[in-house]
Amino acid sequence: PVPVVAIDGTSASGKGTVASRVAAALGWHYLDSGALYRLTALAARRAAVGWDDEAAVAGIAANLDVDFAGGVTRLSGEDVGDAIRSEEISGGASRVAALPAVRAALLFRQRAFRRPPGLVADGRDMGAVVFPDSMTKVFLTASVEIRAERRHKQLIEKGIAASIAALLLDLRERDERDSQRCVAPMQQSADAELLDTTNLTIATAVAQVLDWVNK
Ligand code: CDP
Repeated sequence: PVPVVAIDGTSASGKGTVASRVAAALGWHYLDSGALYRLTALAARRAAVGWDDEAAVAGIAANLDVDFAGGVTRLSGEDVGDAIRSEEISGGASRVAALPAVRAALLFRQRAFRRPPGLVADGRDMGAVVFPDSMTKVFLTASVEIRAERRHKQLIEKGIAASIAALLLDLRERDERDSQRCVAPMQQSADAELLDTTNLTIATAVAQVLDWVNK
């Protein structure tokens, strides 16, 4: 089978950055599974479908016309890279992610990213649900304070005002919702390596994951 490296973890822990750099270093494909939940929330909003209408949102998830070619996220041909990162859509993503029918609809779409020579996938349930036979599983996190600081820095760089206190509150709420939901709750599986990046640079975190992959 095509090898998979599963990188799960908390919001703003640096999963996406680490996973995409590990994929580049290996020359493998990269799946940002969170983007599929975000795209589902955005497509539902555009179709005027409520985020709690499970059957309708699942139908939208099953029929999403998405394309990640060249690192650009497209929904029906339109570049929606910024639109899916807005606060509103981030909230919608975490709501639609709690619906079992939506997770089921996205399952086969995520598995379709598994193509030779290999895949690095990041999310919440890559190692536990989507790719349980992953060769390497990593659970990546960092203290909530450092995650709030990192997100703050990102927003400032984009010229968006934000308060650390509000970001802290938001991250705590999201951690709670992601780990308490009944379907595919975020948790470190017994077979996953724990990588706490609180005091690590991105380069060191990437090197550690590559070490585990090459072990
Ligand atoms: O890292 P961050 O929380 O900022 O965003 P993300 O990884 O893009 O995920 C967006 C939302 O989708 C989160 O609120 C997760 O609850 C959900 N998600 C999920 O349930 N399962 C995944 N495999 C990936 C994301």
